[in-house]
Amino acid sequence: MCGIVGYLGPREATDVVVGGLQRLEYRGYDSAGIAIYDPKTGLQLRRSVGKLVGLIARLHHEPARGNVGLGHTRWATHGGVTEINAHPHRDARGQIVVIQNGIVENYLELKARLVEQGVPFVSQTDTEVIAHLVGHYYAQTQCLEAALRLALADLRGGNAVVAFCINEPDRLVAARLGNAGGVVLGLGEGESFVASDVPAILDYTRDLVFLEDREMAVITAEGVTITTLAGDPVQRKPVTIPWDPIAAARGDYKHFMEKEIHEQPRALMDALRGRVDQEAGAVHFEDLRLDDAALCKVERIYAVACGTAWHAGLIAKFMIERLARVRVEVDYASEFRYREPVLGDDALLLAFTQSGETVDTLAAMEEARNQGVPAVAIVNAIGSQAARVADGGPLYLHAGPEIGVASTKAFTSMLLVAYLFALRLAQARGTLDAAALQPHLQALIELPGKAATVIEQSIPICLELAEQYHRVGGALFLGRQANYPIALEGALKLKEISYIHAEGYPAGEMKHGPIALIDETMPVICIAPQDEIYPKMISNIEQVRARHGQVIAIGTSGDADLASKADHVITIPPTLPMLQPILAVIPLQLLAYYVALRRGCDVDQPRNLAKSVTVE
Ligand code: G6P
Repeated sequence: MCGIVGYLGPREATDVVVGGLQRLEYRGYDSAGIAIYDPKTGLQLRRSVGKLVGLIARLHHEPARGNVGLGHTRWATHGGVTEINAHPHRDARGQIVVIQNGIVENYLELKARLVEQGVPFVSQTDTEVIAHLVGHYYAQTQCLEAALRLALADLRGGNAVVAFCINEPDRLVAARLGNAGGVVLGLGEGESFVASDVPAILDYTRDLVFLEDREMAVITAEGVTITTLAGDPVQRKPVTIPWDPIAAARGDYKHFMEKEIHEQPRALMDALRGRVDQEAGAVHFEDLRLDDAALCKVERIYAVACGTAWHAGLIAKFMIERLARVRVEVDYASEFRYREPVLGDDALLLAFTQSGETVDTLAAMEEARNQGVPAVAIVNAIGSQAARVADGGPLYLHAGPEIGVASTKAFTSMLLVAYLFALRLAQARGTLDAAALQPHLQALIELPGKAATVIEQSIPICLELAEQYHRVGGALFLGRQANYPIALEGALKLKEISYIHAEGYPAGEMKHGPIALIDETMPVICIAPQDEIYPKMISNIEQVRARHGQVIAIGTSGDADLASKADHVITIPPTLPMLQPILAVIPLQLLAYYVALRRGCDVDQPRNLAKSVTVE
């Protein structure tokens, strides 16, 4: 939530900062702003309400030039969406500018204190408090680093902050407090970068240093110096990120979401790479830090996640319980720690997160750590906070950057990695031997090709369906067992990008409520591949038909019976039951995409949403 970028070096800072913000706009797009400094022109602040294009247009008329600067794209928390509330914020003397990602929980108290001292506030934001506090301490210390350190000691909450002072134009100072958002430092030749997420600076450098909780960095063109908030020096080697900058660009696709849907066969392949040994009949996870003995000790798993990743957790429960016979509980990360969970010493926490920065998921991991329970993160963003704090290891998706707010390729890759993890557990615990693993490995290897087939075959049908149904007032998604979370995911995809109300329901539960909604105008999307509960699903479809609902079925190719019962059928190739969700979700992603497109919605930046949710 909220994107942060800063730059120092020989380039035009505006170009680097605005370019970086474009790559981070998925984090929030309520307003955007930059502050650029040049010794001749001084501090130039440009801010604009709405998406980044507004700021870019403004910069066209009022350029800002200089070799040091910082910028911010906002997802509003405190204070409405106005230019006054847009970042960067200044201190009362106009010497210091600050951008923030996070929430200052005690800002009212701090504001009251500052107002009492006669500090004039212009915005309704919590971030302005930080600017004034830094200004206040700067007057005492005449040192930006010291002033920010003192200011941070007053704050409660989780924050990522970058500050600049016109009296120290050779540096930016960045800090991280808590889990509210990452701070990544980029090291170049005679230039340095700071950002809240890797894609922002990937065009310039892949040598990155991540700030940990309660650390600060003084950033100059020559490099970075890291200390703890207490002032102790920190030595940290840079990591090199393998992501290709081109992967973070949209290419010929109309939207990132469309590109990422199409990338799924490749992403699935990359998630499998090096992890499947067909000859030995085994699964290897180089990144897993739990050995067989530790895996055998696990008697229950807590899967925690938010949003689409939570749906991956729900499906992982089926995979792990069926294949490895280990009990799994699935929690919304935002609920987990507040219910004071009793985890036990035979437990494992399994966090699902694309960004590795979702604050609630990080808090759930922290809860596990506090109870001495190891955590494994199924995570996409390399070097992200979740990846770093997962003591059991980050199991990377290797899906490449996901930019579209509605998660697609990260979801299917999460399911694949969860399946591999279930097999790895089964292998360690002896619930599946090498011979029993073989059909699973074969099915996994065939999966990317099948995903490509699903994409190709679904597009024309989904385009037609979007034409026919884009004006409906609501939609119902039904599924059973591991395909019930797919119904939830299909409904979430549709509502988040097309703003059509949609509900996902376990098909058997439909008759306890949602059936009342069904009439001849209601599309009911039924996920009905051939599996052991297929006949029950068919009965549910009959119940929908009896109420004249419009049945759109996702079924197994060659299923003539289903074709005769549904108004429309989209097929997926046969695969193992626990892998069906990976294929079944693809037509639902495409359906949501084309419906949103037909309704003229902003697919990649749906209203009110943000890709990385770093506030509670
Ligand atoms: C937001 C995004 C979703 C995502 C969820 C969890 O709501 O819009 O697409 O599933 O956060 O994000 P994470 O990065 O933890 O997977």
